[in-house]
Amino acid sequence: MNTMQPCGIEDDDRQPPMNGLLEIAQRGLGLKPKRLPSWLFYDERGSALFEEICEQPEYYLTRREIALMDEHAASIADSLGSDVRLVEYGSGNARKTSQLLRQMHAPVAYVPVEISPEPLHQSVERLAREFPSLPVQPLCADFSKSLRLPIPPRASRRTVVYFPGSTIGNFESREAVALLRKIRNEMGDAGGILVGVDLKKDPAVIEAAYNDRAGVTAAFTLNMLARLNREIGSDFVLSQFSHRAHYNPMAGRIETHIVSRCAQQVKIGRASVAFREDEAIQVEYSCKYSVEDFAAMAARAGLAVERVWMDAKKMFSVQYLVRASTVAR
Ligand code: TRP
Repeated sequence: MNTMQPCGIEDDDRQPPMNGLLEIAQRGLGLKPKRLPSWLFYDERGSALFEEICEQPEYYLTRREIALMDEHAASIADSLGSDVRLVEYGSGNARKTSQLLRQMHAPVAYVPVEISPEPLHQSVERLAREFPSLPVQPLCADFSKSLRLPIPPRASRRTVVYFPGSTIGNFESREAVALLRKIRNEMGDAGGILVGVDLKKDPAVIEAAYNDRAGVTAAFTLNMLARLNREIGSDFVLSQFSHRAHYNPMAGRIETHIVSRCAQQVKIGRASVAFREDEAIQVEYSCKYSVEDFAAMAARAGLAVERVWMDAKKMFSVQYLVRASTVAR
């Protein structure tokens, strides 16, 4: 049974506003199947664990994308042209951004958009040191919401939104289309989107990437429960849950779950949430695309793929999208 005891908290205006995180956890764990939003991974420890995931031998994504940028950043920069304003979504540690900026021709400004202040701060410092003459205009915001970009220091030829790391894969296709459409509006007629897209490949290789032998990914997913315990006072016992990541070949995606090892009750605020043995909380999808799949999705957002770059092993791609009507032929 999936019971969420009534706790006097309704979605109505008689109640004072409550702790946002508590409300989010209660709502997600009241769904069938249970679900928690993946941004909950990225507290301080979660962000550090994610950096560690990127260094695991099985997690090919980051290494392949960096190799791709080593090989193709100059060609990518040529495609973007000169006097570009570069807006980055979810700026993270900005390693790939350096590779790109080093090759860009007279960039107008760099605008990192990141929801967590700490990583935003760090990436700004690092880039400001490496590119002292580049105006950096950080924006602490949720990139999935509509954004008011800062006024650029001088006129730019175009705005390019850089969205590396295959983060687009963490959205289900309908949401991904909506996000691409939103970016399409924000970048304007002359704008472009430079997006990192992980490619379909041997499912065993993909699955291994999300189940590293050292257990860093497992620690990363379970950290979500530790975060909830700390921030909303829930009482998840971490050893009673496990990490599970399977590739769903029909849907073309990794599905990451946190699975209850036994039947148990967990306190979430004043409510108690029941878990069956083996009951799963869905926490993340990581969609994988063929080049054709992604072009079809871009088309649904009114975008055309102008160019695709791949790493030498053809495991990862970086794609340049422009408004569908503006592709040069
Ligand atoms: N965006 C990354 C990805 O989909 C994040 C990530 C890596 C991740 N490993 C994970 C998310 C494990 C959840 C679980 O590849």
